Amino acid sequence: MKDKLIIFDTTLRDGEQSPGASMTSDEKVRIAKALERMHVDVIEAGFPIASKGDFEAVQSVARIIKESRICALARAIDKDIDRAGEALKEAEAPRIHTFIATSPIHMEMKLRMSPDQVLEQAVAAVKRARRYTDDVEFSPEDAGRSDLDFLCRILEAVVDAGATTLNIPDTVGYNVPTQFGELMHNLIERIPNSDKAIFSVHCHNDLGLAVANSLSAVYNGARQVECTINGLGERAGNAALEEIVMAINTRADIFNCETNLDTTQIVPCSRLVSSITGFKVQPNKAIVGANAFAHESGIHQDGVLKSRETYEIMRAEDVGWSANRMVLGKHSGRNAFRTRLQEIGTDFASEVELNEAFTRFKELADKKHEIFDDDLQALVTQTKLSSENERYKLVSLKVTSEMGEIPNASLVVSVDGKEKSASATGGGVVDASFKAIESIVDSKTQLQLYAVNNITSGTDSQGEVTVRMEKEGRIVNGQGADTDIVIASAKAYINGLNKIMQSKERAHPQV
Ligand code: KIV
Ligand code: ZN
Repeated sequence: MKDKLIIFDTTLRDGEQSPGASMTSDEKVRIAKALERMHVDVIEAGFPIASKGDFEAVQSVARIIKESRICALARAIDKDIDRAGEALKEAEAPRIHTFIATSPIHMEMKLRMSPDQVLEQAVAAVKRARRYTDDVEFSPEDAGRSDLDFLCRILEAVVDAGATTLNIPDTVGYNVPTQFGELMHNLIERIPNSDKAIFSVHCHNDLGLAVANSLSAVYNGARQVECTINGLGERAGNAALEEIVMAINTRADIFNCETNLDTTQIVPCSRLVSSITGFKVQPNKAIVGANAFAHESGIHQDGVLKSRETYEIMRAEDVGWSANRMVLGKHSGRNAFRTRLQEIGTDFASEVELNEAFTRFKELADKKHEIFDDDLQALVTQTKLSSENERYKLVSLKVTSEMGEIPNASLVVSVDGKEKSASATGGGVVDASFKAIESIVDSKTQLQLYAVNNITSGTDSQGEVTVRMEKEGRIVNGQGADTDIVIASAKAYINGLNKIMQSKERAHPQV
């Protein structure tokens, strides 16, 4: 009998800490539903003390998701823990995850506390969290650079105080696999009450070792892995869920544990997260990259045709590569549309929204004969964006482009319900459109990134545009999708402006 490996997904919390990846409550619920469909055991939905928006997002996820355990993050501070407990009130299976730094550099420079004070605060936090739930996780932040004796002391104390999961983070991605595995082994061996808690691992990817370190910890006894879809996360990101899960599955001869995951949901979930956050997946990314199962060399192709195992260690369909089916077309009715949306885990709160999405679907089907699941996800994102209370809306756009002539854009943008028009020239029609928008809005933002991705293949595919904008240190990603990439670009720019203008203050857990 193999042990169970708990998959703890933190896309909605640590993933959201990637600059520009912040999500609305509705977007978090959509991703949480996809994670639930994949049978993820624990979903860390957010950091409720960070902002009113994040509190509400955790509340919504806790209300809606019933099959996965819902976790909320809290520093080892009373007000954080109370806020997390409050946000999780309606969860079927709530978990509070509390943490405090334990490395000498963090204790001295950041917290300005002695080890004894840190230990005392950790114990108090765990006890307080136990008032809300009997499922309490504790993390000694920066464990990877902490003193082993102190780690043993604090972890033993928090288990006595009621912690049921001990998570060992390599917060700054400093560790290497042999050393990190040894740390896990030593902790489990040396802590007298280690059998009373599940050991967990949480690795960052600063040296590109997050997955390797996590697997080394699992090999040495960790039975929970904290990870994110597409490896999203603070700085260089967290360990990628899809890589961890497929390594455990594919190398079942090495690991004495197994997960509950429905791996066929991996690719759809990866695409959903990429579409919502605007973080593209690199083509050569393991498991979920467009080239992950593509064979270019003639020798490889020949081998795969004779026997796929010659060059493939996993089957593309096992991770969901065939899931993006052509599902609907021009003649599909409202019922078929709604049913497919429900099958891919998306629904609308109101008939008005559904009708609006259906109208958009019909418009799209007129331009594009085959509508795939990814088209539907993009369509849902666009409908939800347009139904949100947005200051700016793109009303119309006309561009002219001719070889040897200067490109021009004329557009109308609604600002707080009032229509304003402008024209501008630029290096290309996208540049001209952005300049025209700016002549109306004068946002004083810096455009840091402009990227176009085709949602499906073919020249009639919708283009999905991501823009990254910065204003006074705040970074947001704007997105837009359309079969016309100039319109998609203008929509993305307007979406980014709406986000940056909302300018919500947000606390960061580790600052
Ligand atoms: O990286 C880290 O240390 C964290 C903790 C909050 C677990 O994200
Ligand atoms: Zn982290």
